[in-house]
Amino acid sequence: MNDLRPPAANGTGGSHEDGVHGEDLRAAGAKAEDLRAAGAKAAAIAAGHLAGVAGRPVWQPVPAAERAWLSDQELPEAGRPLAELLEDARTHVLPHPMGNGHPRFFGWVNSPPNPAGVLVEPLAAALNPSCAGGDHAGPHLERTVVRWLAELVGFPHPPGGGLLTSGASMATVICLAAARQRAALADGWDAREEGLSGRPPMIMYVTEEGHSCLHKAAQLLGLGARQVRTVPVDAAYRMDVGALRAMVAEDLDAGRRPFCVAGSAGTVNSGAVDPLGEIADVAAEHGLWFHVDGAYGALGILADGVSSAAPHYAGLDRADSLALDPHKWLGVPVGCGCALLRDPSAARAAFSLVPSYLIDDNAGELGWFAEYGPEQTRPFRALKTWATMSHLGRSGIVSLVNHTAGLARRLAAMVEESADFELLAPVTTSITAFRHRPHDGDGDGDGDGDGDGLDALNRAIPGAVQARGNAFLTGTRLGGRDALRACFLHPDTTERDLAVLLDEIRLAAKSLRT
Ligand SMILES: Cc1ncc(COP(=O)(O)O)c(C=O)c1O
Repeated sequence: MNDLRPPAANGTGGSHEDGVHGEDLRAAGAKAEDLRAAGAKAAAIAAGHLAGVAGRPVWQPVPAAERAWLSDQELPEAGRPLAELLEDARTHVLPHPMGNGHPRFFGWVNSPPNPAGVLVEPLAAALNPSCAGGDHAGPHLERTVVRWLAELVGFPHPPGGGLLTSGASMATVICLAAARQRAALADGWDAREEGLSGRPPMIMYVTEEGHSCLHKAAQLLGLGARQVRTVPVDAAYRMDVGALRAMVAEDLDAGRRPFCVAGSAGTVNSGAVDPLGEIADVAAEHGLWFHVDGAYGALGILADGVSSAAPHYAGLDRADSLALDPHKWLGVPVGCGCALLRDPSAARAAFSLVPSYLIDDNAGELGWFAEYGPEQTRPFRALKTWATMSHLGRSGIVSLVNHTAGLARRLAAMVEESADFELLAPVTTSITAFRHRPHDGDGDGDGDGDGDGLDALNRAIPGAVQARGNAFLTGTRLGGRDALRACFLHPDTTERDLAVLLDEIRLAAKSLRT
């Protein structure tokens, strides 16, 4: 058998009289049958998993034997049948979730997967395109979902004004690289060509509540951590724009090059939204690139009724770039962020590098997505995003935001009604920041917990709650104090779950004290 034989032009691979070819066809047919049967089984396993999530513990540590099974495997010498692999996944993988599918998972910013997004994942894998560019379904559908995201939050959307990414971390790298190159070109030099050495330090401004991905991006882009200024926040953890103004003036006086200010539309600690309009004013005055990290919270602009926070978002539409993660509040299965750009050519100027083997004369004016970011081979992220957004529809997305934003407000009210809890920040999006205060241990009666072990207690509570398996929350430091924070993203979370959460915290705290 000649394995190197090229396929026939008609795509059948040879004549039907060819015995070898007939064998190939039969083998391929059998494979398709296997795949169909295994695929039905995989779908049943996935559906069963999703249906059963709420009835199981939110999270449990992975037992040692299972951890060993998962982490110490050897590559099998001989290939294994599909059915066996599915059985392994069912018995060794699915029982050990992170917990974010459960309605009482309130940790970090991790949503449950939207079922429509889950449903189409195998289809994206079956097609398996690279969405670097070209004339096939992936890049065309990506144009649609990027536009939908921009339209949802009222961000300007010129043709080609954004791209899907692995998450907000990569979206931030793209936006800040565009900002860096724009500033350099405006000053008459080329950061890609020359690098940054010998130039005035390029300064970026972000509050201490800004996400770590902003710092990582600045470091990765060679700006240097020291060039990232920490702007103070007000009592509601929003950027102090007066302080920003003063810092920019000081840097200019010292001959440095302020080039970018990054505001947050939904911080991870408390869900705060910076005063975007005022920041936009400062950016406009000084020619700074205005980036907004709306990875988690940009969709909060959609809340209406009692949870409406739209006035907080005034000025979002004046940003140069916006990071908005479909894999957060929207519930698109993990692996989908989005960088939106007011002027897409800025990202293209920062990344386009088309070698001869990638020239596509039919690419049109916008070129390939790969010219707007560092990724060349790009997965088909648009399909799960399209499916999720279409399945929810605009009204479903608004309902999801209202429901979860309402839960955060309800928890804040419950916290304020309870003598043993304290609210630490106003609720703007769907995060409640608070802390447990079962006692005023320093005995001075002011309840501030100074020196009374409340910091240590609140630092220990998340782990103790998680271990109990009935709810999952995580902690942080806010305003110099250890805090608890609950982030609401799950459409099935109910008010009853909020009461369970507070009780779980009380029980966990009690167990820590005894
Ligand atoms: C506010 C905010 N910004 C940025 C990020 C980083 O996003 P990603 O993890 O998708 O890279 C996160 C992640 O939770 C976030 O909550």
